[in-house]
This record gives sequence, C-alpha cells and structure tokens, in this order.
Amino acid sequence: MQSFAAWPAPRLAKDPADRTRTGPKAPAPRPHGRGANRRYTSGTNHERGPEVNLYTGNSMRSRLRAGARRLAVVALSAAWLAGCGGGEPTAQAERTYVIKFPHVTAPATPKGQAADRFKELAEARFPGRVEVEVYPSSQLMDDDASLEALAFGEIQMIAVSLSKFDRLTHAFQVFDLPFLFPDLEAVEAFQASPAGRELLGELTDRGFQGLAFWHNGMKQFTAPRPLHAPEDARGLKFRIMESDVLQAQIQVIGGSPQKMALGEVYQALQTGTVDAQENTWSNNYSSKFYEVQPYLMETNHGYIGYLVAVNPDFWASLPDDIRSGLEEIVAEVTEWGNARAEAINQEAKAQILASGRGEIIELTDEELVAWQEGMRPVWDEFSDDIGQERIDAALASRPGNNH
Ligand code: SIN
Repeated sequence: MQSFAAWPAPRLAKDPADRTRTGPKAPAPRPHGRGANRRYTSGTNHERGPEVNLYTGNSMRSRLRAGARRLAVVALSAAWLAGCGGGEPTAQAERTYVIKFPHVTAPATPKGQAADRFKELAEARFPGRVEVEVYPSSQLMDDDASLEALAFGEIQMIAVSLSKFDRLTHAFQVFDLPFLFPDLEAVEAFQASPAGRELLGELTDRGFQGLAFWHNGMKQFTAPRPLHAPEDARGLKFRIMESDVLQAQIQVIGGSPQKMALGEVYQALQTGTVDAQENTWSNNYSSKFYEVQPYLMETNHGYIGYLVAVNPDFWASLPDDIRSGLEEIVAEVTEWGNARAEAINQEAKAQILASGRGEIIELTDEELVAWQEGMRPVWDEFSDDIGQERIDAALASRPGNNH
C-alpha cells in the first residue's frame, strides 16, 4: 500500500467540523440523505462503530498503530466468535457495513446525483446490512484528505477527479491533456477501450481499487475579462486542480497557475487571490462562480471525470454477496449517471444564462483553433510520462479518429 510519508499534511476542509480541532465545539458534519443522524458506539470504522474523527490531528504513525490495534481486535473477536460456535456466517449476517462516501461537489451535480443514487440502491438491496453515508460539498473533507483517508481505511469510498491523482500516477494525466477529448462520447469510448479499462486497476496496489469512471463534463474557462485568444489569458492567476498537466496548460498561455481545493475557490475569486479558473457548467453553477466571474468562455478544452474507488481491504472484507451486489449497483449507477451528465451540465449552463449574471462567450471556430494550437505543446511535454501509446489510444477514440 502507498506510503503517505512523502505527502504534505492533508488539507482539511474549512467547515464546522474542521474547527473542532482548535476552536469551539461545533456540530459533527451531517450525512446527506437517508440515514442521517445515526451514531454508532462500537466496532471498527466500517462496521457499526464509533464515529471516526478524521480531524483528531493524530500523527500518521499513531494512526497506523491505532489501525493495527483495531485489526488485532477484529481478529480476536472473529476467533472468539468462531470458538463460541457462532462462526463467521452468523457474525457476517448480523453485521451492518457502513460506507462513508465524502465528495466535494453539490448534490445536484452529476457526481452528487450518482452518489445519492448509489446510496439509494445499495440500501434498498441490502436493508440493514449496508449503510451509505454520503457527505457532499466538501462538508467532511476535501479531495486531498479523502485520498489519504481512503488509503488508510478511514473512509470506504470516493469519487475523486482524475486530475487529483497526479501525485500517485502519471497514467491519469491523459485525461488532462487540453483538447484531447472533444466531448464526453470520446472520453467514454476511451474509458471503455482496453487502454482505458486498464486504468481502473492502476492504483489498487496503492490503496485505491477502481470500480468505475463517472463523468462530470467538459471544462470552460471563467475570467474577469473575455478570453477570445490564449494571449488574453496572459498575466491572469488561474486556480487549477492538483495536476501538473493543468499547471503546464496555464503556463503555456502565459497565466499563473495556483493549485487549490474546490471549496476554497469562490472566496479566492471574490477576494482576488486568483483571477480566473476552469470548470464544468455544473460546477460553475453549483459553486456560484458565475456570481464572481463576469465572463464564461465556452471552450470545452478539457474533461472532469472521477475514479470511483474503494479501499481494497475493506472491499475484500465484504461477504461475497454484498461485494458482488454493490459492484452491480456501481455498474448500474455508472450507466445511469454518465448518460445524464451532459444534460445536467447543459441545464446548469441554462441556469447561468437565466441568472443574468456572467456573460457566456461562444468562441468562433478560428478562435478555438488558436486555443488548441496554443496549448498543444503540453502534449509533447507530458507524452513520456503518460506514454505515447496511451495518448494514441485516446486519439483513436475520437470521432473519425482525427489526430
Ligand atoms: C470535482 O468536480 O469533483 C472537482 C472539481 C474541482 O476541483 O474543480
């Protein structure tokens, strides 16, 4: 499993739960949807058990020691149950498996809707045996913290933007290459290809067992001035996700990139810490970026999608019927959610238009070609890291296969 020793301290969400570390006692973050308000008093962190405080500030070593102690307790309990003649089947049959599933977008976004659908179907199919606690809108933690929490088994499921796995693998950087995928159909064709499917297992050894790819949508730039040409971006500070490809993409157009968690972007735009950013229509709408960004450029220059991943040890610990049932549900939700993602984004675009705030600028074909050419050097810069074969497989998935 991946050692996180080299990682910087996790950046925790600035929400009421976060303040419990240093400030006055604040209410614990509330799970979203059915099952909210439940509290548990015993067991390991994915069975009915104590609320796991992800904000204790414990060092990694003490958390590992605590994890080892928990494993020992589980092993002893299992041995005791077997010795009592209770046996594993009874113990497993009575157990409720709790899946903590935090994410950073609003419930109405493609990811928010898919996460809620997963909860609904999983709890309906396994009543009393599976509980899914969905925490939307960074209310439990940001993406960086959730990567660490999943690898350490403190949470059980994530759907984190592919861009944000950058420190763990270069393979996913293919999804960040500007203008590589013209639309979600091309992304989907690549993800369904052998080269794409292989990526699901890319991080299993490091604590992230990939189950599916979920779409959000194509990215648009937002800025304090119209960006008709790449030159118009010169000198602007852009918030980006934690990805070196995105960093290079902004540098090549003369902007200054700043990596930042989604939950901090609105305020950063409002206060001028950053000037501009890139995101999907659904994130631009639900995070209200259009309120603080007068121009939204319809560039469709990149993709935001997610690796839906579970902790491999947790997944292996599930009874076979539950594990295979949940995998079927993930597949069903993936089809359902990915088929709706584009419509959700178009609806969000329409809501921005209807708000009368934030002007949407459609670029001409010539302007789009200038953007494509301006950003193209990024492909060469990262082709060795990503692997030219992987880029070629992505190109092959474009309609008409036009390079
Ligand atoms: C997400 O859609 O989950 C994250 C997008 C972002 O950080 O901008």
